[in-house]
Amino acid sequence: MKVVVCKNYEEMSVAAAKIIEEQINSKPESVMGFATGSTPVGMYTELAKDCSAGKVDFSKITAFNLDEYYPIAHSDENSYVYFMKENLFSKVNVDYSKTNIPDGEAKDAVAECEQYEKKIEKAGGIDLQILGIGKNGHIGFNEPDAKLYANTHLTSLTQSTIDANARFFESASLVPTKALTMGMATIMKAKKIVVLASGKDKKAAVSALLDDRITTDFPVSMLKMHSDVTLVCDEAAYMDL
Ligand code: GLP
Repeated sequence: MKVVVCKNYEEMSVAAAKIIEEQINSKPESVMGFATGSTPVGMYTELAKDCSAGKVDFSKITAFNLDEYYPIAHSDENSYVYFMKENLFSKVNVDYSKTNIPDGEAKDAVAECEQYEKKIEKAGGIDLQILGIGKNGHIGFNEPDAKLYANTHLTSLTQSTIDANARFFESASLVPTKALTMGMATIMKAKKIVVLASGKDKKAAVSALLDDRITTDFPVSMLKMHSDVTLVCDEAAYMDL
């Protein structure tokens, strides 16, 4: 695993954006896997800036997002559809028809997950998947549990994730309790994976990624079975490990 430790959040964001730009510049029609959460926001700002400056061209990429709350309206400010539009898609020259996010409005969640998985396969698989990490070691919304799921699926959020994400909602009771998420195999099939982590709250999860354990208690620990993972983090997430 490659590990890039940056001084702070800003440097982490620049370093991560550079990796994405290298990917897109070397393969303009890349299939990109995008993530939400507060961690990648700075990286998306960098990408938008560099796209305006002509340093990267999103027009030929296809995008698949990791996850979405369920159910949730696309227009809801907490939906990941809204997040991606606000933070990246409206600021770069992406072709909207080639952006994909699990549909929080789908009537049949199981059918939506099956179709999503097939769409990724049909696109040729993900070239580069960006991941944040939940405080509890989740990736996408693959939560710590005795068993994990391989493919895109409907899942229940743990109390720890509901509490962590409550900061975006008016109260914890308004956080959806379910989500649609790529599964562990969907993520592991990506050709390259870049994991972002910032702040001391992520230390336990970063440690589970870097030590020798492979455990469903920390889904992120499974990534050590992948041959092309880069962790880009700041000193606060890494210090003393
Ligand atoms: C959410 C998302 C994850 C994300 C995680 C961390 O629950 N489903 O994909 O990585 O939270 O979020 P943050 O970056 O805000 O700490």
